[in-house]
Formats: sequence, structure tokens, C-alpha cells
Amino acid sequence: GINTRCNAVLSNSSSTETTEYADIDWDSIGFGLKSTDYMYVMKCNLDGEFSKGELQRFGNLEVSPSAGVLNYGQGLFEGMKAYRKQDGKTILLFRPEENANRMRFGADRMCMPAPTVEQFIEAVKATVLANKRWIPPPGKGSLYIRPLLMGTGAVLGLAPAPEYTFLVYVSPVGNYFKEGVAPINLIVESEFHRATPGGTGGVKTIGNYAAVLKAQSIAKAKGYSDVLYLDCVYKRFLEEVSSCNIFIVKDNVISTPEIKGTILPGITRKSIIDVARTQGFQVEERNVTVDELLEADEVFCTGTAVVVSPVGSITYKGKRVSYGEGSFGPVSEKVYTVLTSLQMGLSEDNMNWTVNL
Ligand code: COI
Repeated sequence: GINTRCNAVLSNSSSTETTEYADIDWDSIGFGLKSTDYMYVMKCNLDGEFSKGELQRFGNLEVSPSAGVLNYGQGLFEGMKAYRKQDGKTILLFRPEENANRMRFGADRMCMPAPTVEQFIEAVKATVLANKRWIPPPGKGSLYIRPLLMGTGAVLGLAPAPEYTFLVYVSPVGNYFKEGVAPINLIVESEFHRATPGGTGGVKTIGNYAAVLKAQSIAKAKGYSDVLYLDCVYKRFLEEVSSCNIFIVKDNVISTPEIKGTILPGITRKSIIDVARTQGFQVEERNVTVDELLEADEVFCTGTAVVVSPVGSITYKGKRVSYGEGSFGPVSEKVYTVLTSLQMGLSEDNMNWTVNL
């Protein structure tokens, strides 16, 4: 149902934006920001309730230099995608209530009020529809949706901010890694860690992503696509990659690190587990060791941005292990195809995961 406190108000609409598609080269979009037409902004007043959300022209924000998010990192984000179906008109969202609930869970950890599930979904729908001409043609990519929740009220001493802003912006995207759909090459990180027990690794706080930049840039400078993190206690169990979750396949059994507070509970991760089980695969969520990784038949990553990315090689303590022949392994290809066909509306959604716009 539509929450009355979050009715969108469309201001400054311009006639140039009624054309079917934005004028960009849809064959080379990659994963960089393209400024789109509108963003959704909703503020939370002192009583902890979000109200009066509205669409505004996409543009810079004005915030206090003392904002909680700028000074103490009080912020969360989400990642979602909208696809255009083959008919070019129907728009599909994927499990938006999962992102809404994850933001609410993270907000509790970060001492922030959060929009209700209904407010979150209405804001996402309004933003996608207002930027419809930026949704790529079928088969050319998706509209990436980035909801943000941040402490925008001024603080000086360390404390939760007195005011919050929920914002949704979008950008058309193609493949996340420069490799495109080709396998990525990962290096196991032995020095830096992404998360600690009792920390915030299990929520989508902005600081988790700043904390991986150092290891990621060192790895990229050496030619790797990204970094795979190990647990910080035993330095032996797989956690995740900077921007996605990890899976291994051995003798047709699929395994992935279990959710235990230091791993981001990915919605693509969870969906791949369900898809794989539906396809008859055994899936185990458990501790997965780095030794098992090196002996796996297939390795792949999952995330909203990366979708399902095959891993072509892993380097650990100077030793490089390769998988596959420069493309998907059979198990990862199967789960990738089933999931993406459902997300793009190419197959029947018998999981009831998509939302039509
Ligand atoms: C996503 O996959 O949507 C994320 O939020 C990860 C981000 C690093 C791009």
C-alpha cells in the first residue's frame, strides 16, 4: 500500500525527458555514474519518523560540514537493479523488500531511524519511474538503484545525528568488472581484514567499503580484479570479496561462507542458494577454508552489482590456482542463467521474486 507520508511530488518536469530512451551509447555503459534526471529525498525529523519524500532534480546536496555521516561515517547504502523486459515497457524490480529490511536491520546497528518497508519500496518505484528513459534496452544492462541512509544532522561530540536523510538515485549500468563477463582474477588478502567479530561487517555501512580500498588498490596495481578476505581470527576461513560474496563448487556441491556477522548477507547470495537448491544442487552454508578454495572445481562471486562472476584464478601466498577454460564452469553457468532469466523476465518467475512496474 502507498504510505501517505511518502507521496512523491514531481517538480520541474521537463518535456525533453519524455523521449523513450536517453541519448547515450547503450553498448558501452560499464559501471560508472551517469547523471540521471531525478533523485528521491526524504528527511527524518526529531521524532524519528520519515515524512514528505519527494522527487528532486538529480544534483548535489547541501549538508552541514558537521553532518554525522561526514564526520563519523553514520551511513548505510543499498544496491538494487531494475531491468526492462523484452517488450521494452515492463520494468522489473528484484526482491525490493529484502533491501528495505536489510536497511532497517543495518540502521538499528548504526543507531539510525529507517524508512518503513513501504516507504522504501515506494521511493524506489518513484525514482525508477521518474528515470525510466535511463533504463537500458533489454539485453544492454540494467538501472542500478542506490538507496542511501545518512545522518545529515550536525554533531560535534560523538553521538547519533539529530536528523537523517534517505535518498535514492539511479544510474544505468553494464558489467561491473572491466573483464566483462570473462572470469576475474582474485588475490587472497593476508594482511588486511574487512570485518571483525562484533563489528559492522554484516551490515551495509559505508565505512566497510572505505576500509577495503587500500587492499583493493594494491591488488589492482598488481593486475588482479579484486581481493578475497579471510577471517581475522584464524586467517583461514573465507569471508568475501570487496564488493561481493564468494561460492565454491566441489563435486557438484556448492558451498559458501555462512552468515555470522562478519559477512554481508547478500540478496543475490541468498537467491543463488535458493535457485541452486531448486535446480537439485546440494548447498552448504558453513566455514569454508582457503585450502578448499584452492582445490575447488569452480569458484564464483555473487552480488547485485557483479551479478554472478566466474573466478578464473586465485592467488594465495604467491601460488596461483586456475579454474575453468576462460569462461563459466557448468554449475555457475547454470545458476547464473536461471537467476538472470528470472530477473530479466525471460523465464517465468516461479519464486515470486520480481515486482512489475
Ligand atoms: C552491490 O552489489 O550492489 C553493492 O552494493 C556493492 C558495491 C561495492 C557496488
